[in-house]
Amino acid sequence: MDPSAPLCRLDDIDDGGAIAVQVDSSTGGFELILLRQGERVFAYHNECPHAGRRLDYAPGRFLVSDGRLVCAAHGATFRVVDGACLGGPCSNGLAGLPVEVVDGSVRLR
Ligand code: FES
Repeated sequence: MDPSAPLCRLDDIDDGGAIAVQVDSSTGGFELILLRQGERVFAYHNECPHAGRRLDYAPGRFLVSDGRLVCAAHGATFRVVDGACLGGPCSNGLAGLPVEVVDGSVRLR
């Protein structure tokens, strides 16, 4: 994958919501959660640090409200802006990747 290629458009993500995008890599690729707050986007691997499950309840559908993302498997709760574990069965936060918004496109930094 061209690392400068956009992951999506900012407008593809509802403000306060989240989507999943696939990132190709030489090791088979991975899925990222992209969470939007206004003009900012935060990216994390779609894998919960509790038991390694996907965080979504259906492909690309996430439980997000009040700046918190809840894992659909067992309810671990993470802060959107930094991925920190806020409650539930997690002791570690989410693994994030830096992204930026350039001319309305969301890209890996
Ligand atoms: S796998 Fe996410 S809370 Fe258990």
